[in-house]
Amino acid sequence: MAAIANVNGTITGGQEATISVFDHGFLFGEGVYETLRTYNGRPFLLERHLRRLRTSAGMINLDVPLNNEEFTARLTETITAARDASLSASSPSSSPSAPEWYVRVLLTRGVGELSYDPAACPKPSLVIIVKTLDVPAPQAYETGVPVVLVSVMRNHPDSVNPLIKSNNLLNNALAMQEAVRRGAFEGVMRNYRGEISECTTANIFVVKDGLALTPPLDAGLLAGITREFLFELGPVQGVPVRDAVLRDEDLFGADEAFLTSTTRELVPIVRVDDRNIGDGKPGPVTRKLLQAFRDQAHALTKAPSSRR
Ligand code: PDD
Repeated sequence: MAAIANVNGTITGGQEATISVFDHGFLFGEGVYETLRTYNGRPFLLERHLRRLRTSAGMINLDVPLNNEEFTARLTETITAARDASLSASSPSSSPSAPEWYVRVLLTRGVGELSYDPAACPKPSLVIIVKTLDVPAPQAYETGVPVVLVSVMRNHPDSVNPLIKSNNLLNNALAMQEAVRRGAFEGVMRNYRGEISECTTANIFVVKDGLALTPPLDAGLLAGITREFLFELGPVQGVPVRDAVLRDEDLFGADEAFLTSTTRELVPIVRVDDRNIGDGKPGPVTRKLLQAFRDQAHALTKAPSSRR
């Protein structure tokens, strides 16, 4: 996996990048992160991701060391380094199409003594990893994917609040392990009240009678940027989007369902456990929203003029 890493401002190949074993991100999982992707080589919805990073950091009392302008500059130079590395690695005969980039930003408490006292770490660590974007196979969008309801409960909001996009991903990883064991594309998690909250790495929507419904933030879930974007995009496409408490039966009885995330856009869900959703095929509302999402993502990242 070729990648470029930027550790506190120093760019190297991914394999050469190092971080201290005394970093509290490593020791305690004390840190927050963002996952972005590019369209047309440019980060999509960057301001929203930076806003959420600041919210996450604030919720663990961590300072974000850069302002948005400095952040943008650091991201841009790291993406440029990845692009340069990929150009020098590719042979002249290889595919001319420019790659899109996966960008992971990690901000941790930093290096310090083995103590939970934040004063032990005077300086946060900021890591940016850029690699070529892997997206689901086209078939996932054409025929839809199966998911399972998993037994692992989503963190209680009074514990590690799922609104924090935390580097400490054990809750999600354990749930995904169960989904993988059961042969599913994703695992759907419930909250402590037994309501549906989200998938292990994505938000979830159902479509019922032409409405797109997704669990409210107080169901204990990450405030997904793709989810937020759909609240704006849906009505323009004639699809009202609402938050609503959802239970297992709402999922089983949905006309359509889909999951959303930065790296996977909207993926149709056609099966939950051993039951088909709707007629077991991606539905018209999901397909329409996916197309509109892709169109908007490309439009919003287009170069200002044809010369770049
Ligand atoms: N995952 N819920 C969880 C638990 C997530 O990890 C993610 C994103 C989402 C969707 O959020 P967004 O639309 O902002 O990507 C919901 C990213 C892609 C990741 O973990 O890499």
